[in-house]
Amino acid sequence: MDDATSPPRLTRLTFHGPLSEDRAARMIRRLSAQATPTAPMSVLDIGCGWGEFMLRFLEATPGSTGVGIDLNEEDLARGRANAEARGLADRVHFLQESAADTAHGPADLVLCFGASHALSDAPPPDHTPAALHALRRLVTPGGRVVLGEGIWQRTPTPDELSAMWPDASPGEHHDLADLVDLAIAAGFRPAWIETVNNDEWEDFESAYQSDVEEWLAAHPGHPLAAETHDRVDRHRAMWLRGYRGPLGLAYLTLIPTTTPPA
Ligand SMILES: C[S@@+](CC[C@H](N)C(=O)[O-])C[C@H]1O[C@@H](n2cnc3c(N)ncnc32)[C@H](O)[C@@H]1O
Repeated sequence: MDDATSPPRLTRLTFHGPLSEDRAARMIRRLSAQATPTAPMSVLDIGCGWGEFMLRFLEATPGSTGVGIDLNEEDLARGRANAEARGLADRVHFLQESAADTAHGPADLVLCFGASHALSDAPPPDHTPAALHALRRLVTPGGRVVLGEGIWQRTPTPDELSAMWPDASPGEHHDLADLVDLAIAAGFRPAWIETVNNDEWEDFESAYQSDVEEWLAAHPGHPLAAETHDRVDRHRAMWLRGYRGPLGLAYLTLIPTTTPPA
């Protein structure tokens, strides 16, 4: 198959999750204020993908260094190329390895955006407390964790659940209040609590597929057109008939308490 005519993948996404430019810039300003010229920060990005947020943090925080870990080599290569293009290649490593029981860390800033499932093999919803306990171990005293985690904004209806991913269940996610309680129980104080808005979801979901939609329109007879068509239609139906509305995403900026829980 000629790569030039194969369906593109995620080329319109800046971040691999719902996150606006404005929110990212505000978060980076707050987090970057923790660093000083004599104490630059170390960053560990769990399930980093191409690590766009980490790269922006490093650009904003002179001397800071980063390690991103992920299983997807294509996304890691995109991160390395972006780091090179921005003059950050000597300050960041993108490593292909699992985050479960990682030997990296502790770091001053630990990012875990849409990747809490990468930190353990616990099934939902137990993967969330398991991830919070792992993140507590991975952050230095006085450091920060930013967790981007799915939440229910409201209980999904049976019709919405049946339109979501296979085996979707009401017990799969916590609500925001319970998520924050779990973070506190894992040994954190919540320094900042925010949730993505509708524009961020719609931008993300549209950018997730728009390159493929344009490709499909331009390649109706392509050997991959039928399966690609089915894939994007299935995903769009999951969003529009299923999780659009009930599913939210919280970004928690967490400070470790001085004594970790037992
Ligand atoms: C929704 S993406 C988020 C990527 C990135 N954090 C961002 O927000 O742009 C989730 C990422 O977790 C990665 N992942 C899944 N399981 C993993 C594991 N066991 N170890 C490391 N990364 C993993 C996937 O490859 C994927 O890149």
